[in-house]
Amino acid sequence: MEFSIKSGSPEKQRSACVVVGIYESRKLSIAAVQMDRASEGYISEVLKRGDMDGRLGSTLLLQRVPNTLCDRVLLVGLGKERDFGDKQYRDATRAMTSALSATGSIDAVSYLSELPVKKREVSWRIEQAVIVAMDALYKFDRLKSKEDDNKRSLKRLTLCVNRRGELAEGEEGLATGLAIAEGMNLTRDLGNLPGNYCTPTYLAEQATEMAKRAGFEIEVMDQAAIEKLGMGSFLSVAKGSRQPPRFIVLQYKGGKASDKPIVLVGKGITFDAGGISLKPAAEMDEMKYDMGGAASVLGTFRALESLRPKLNVVGLIPTCENLPDGNANKPGDIVTSMSGQTIEILNTDAEGRLILCDALTYAERFEPKAVVDIATLTGACVIALGHHASGLLANDDSLARHLLAAGEDMHDRAWQLPLWDEYQEQLKSPFADMQNIGGRSGGTITAACFLSRFTKKYSWAHLDIAGTAWKSGKDKGATGRPVPLLVRFLLNQAAPKHKAA
Ligand code: BES
Ligand code: MN
Ligand code: ZN
Repeated sequence: MEFSIKSGSPEKQRSACVVVGIYESRKLSIAAVQMDRASEGYISEVLKRGDMDGRLGSTLLLQRVPNTLCDRVLLVGLGKERDFGDKQYRDATRAMTSALSATGSIDAVSYLSELPVKKREVSWRIEQAVIVAMDALYKFDRLKSKEDDNKRSLKRLTLCVNRRGELAEGEEGLATGLAIAEGMNLTRDLGNLPGNYCTPTYLAEQATEMAKRAGFEIEVMDQAAIEKLGMGSFLSVAKGSRQPPRFIVLQYKGGKASDKPIVLVGKGITFDAGGISLKPAAEMDEMKYDMGGAASVLGTFRALESLRPKLNVVGLIPTCENLPDGNANKPGDIVTSMSGQTIEILNTDAEGRLILCDALTYAERFEPKAVVDIATLTGACVIALGHHASGLLANDDSLARHLLAAGEDMHDRAWQLPLWDEYQEQLKSPFADMQNIGGRSGGTITAACFLSRFTKKYSWAHLDIAGTAWKSGKDKGATGRPVPLLVRFLLNQAAPKHKAA
């Protein structure tokens, strides 16, 4: 898919389709008014007949509109003008993209990107248009033996801005939007790829390929190297699988050598069967997505590759499988983490924290400005927040606020949960320094409490993406979240535009 930015009148666009917006109760947007005038009232005529009322997300395709240079005009409903905000803009853009890909238009010129959105600027509108359109057009069909026959699909989308003076800002939004969308696509591809393809070795190969292309530094540690580091907790999970583990260390150096890096840590369980504490069979296939944290770190690096912001970023990915096996962890086993702290494993299915804790200890050596880990960590997070917000827990409220604001900006939202000391009680073990589960209550919080014991030396936040990394049911598939949140957060760190929200 190709995008470009343009300014000019809608009736003068030579294109397979020109897209204009209609507000509820048949009120025309500015571009629709222009189209209407050029066509001597053709559009208001259609609306008067009642074929479309401007309800948010509704669409109507018109053929042969008089005095225009395009083949078709697509009307997109915008809802009430005074309600037109982030969500409405994104919904209308999504409806446009679906309608365009259903018509067989190979190219289109959209005037939705001109619409005023409350509190948002040109670059935001363009960025979001690109992200939403790429999201709506995404398909994962590389493992189908035949291609779908819909060959005539949207190839070029031109996004319009109001004035020539806005073109530069539009181009900037386009570059950021494309980088984020491409990052999300990588995250989605890796997530959707099943466990028999997407192994720890495969993830490491993909990271290495990207690093070579982009000029990132990379180190991939194998089992022996991981043993040498003393990552006893990580390795205890890995030893229950025939797939060898990997520990991936990626470094993007866009800042000064003296700039402390932001470290991203991604949970990379390429399949989570639960281990000896075996999961039930229903929907177990979805545990191929248990490397969503790792995939979002790689997707974020993919965006850094294009955007090259002025800061330093480290990506850490502990990756292995969690399977039942003669050599697997058993309930009651006690392991020693890289930090020296001992852990009693009461449930082998709480494996994410076991691999993350050692990566979090490893992060200390970078003297980080901040560490953010991203993990499909707890089913409890899905119960608490559903599928719209990622869980956020942090030992630094300023870091938490920056992450929340970045998520809000990108409609990739997170919601903070408390990390109070009182919850730590639930991790007390009679035999080791801690146990790996805290009982049924507050499962997302106690999981974060566990991680917090390994993050005492730096500013840290944890994103639980169990409810947001993928969708189940008829739209099953990886979402690419929280790449938008992470990239926006990093860009803000590189060039703080305004003080924390
Ligand atoms: N990967 C799962 C978390 C998960 C489960 C994410 C379902 C999305 C949907 C994680 O490793 C896990 O199994 N967690 C356990 C922890 C429990 C044993 C304390 C869970 O949530 O049940
Ligand atoms: Mn598990
Ligand atoms: Zn897991």
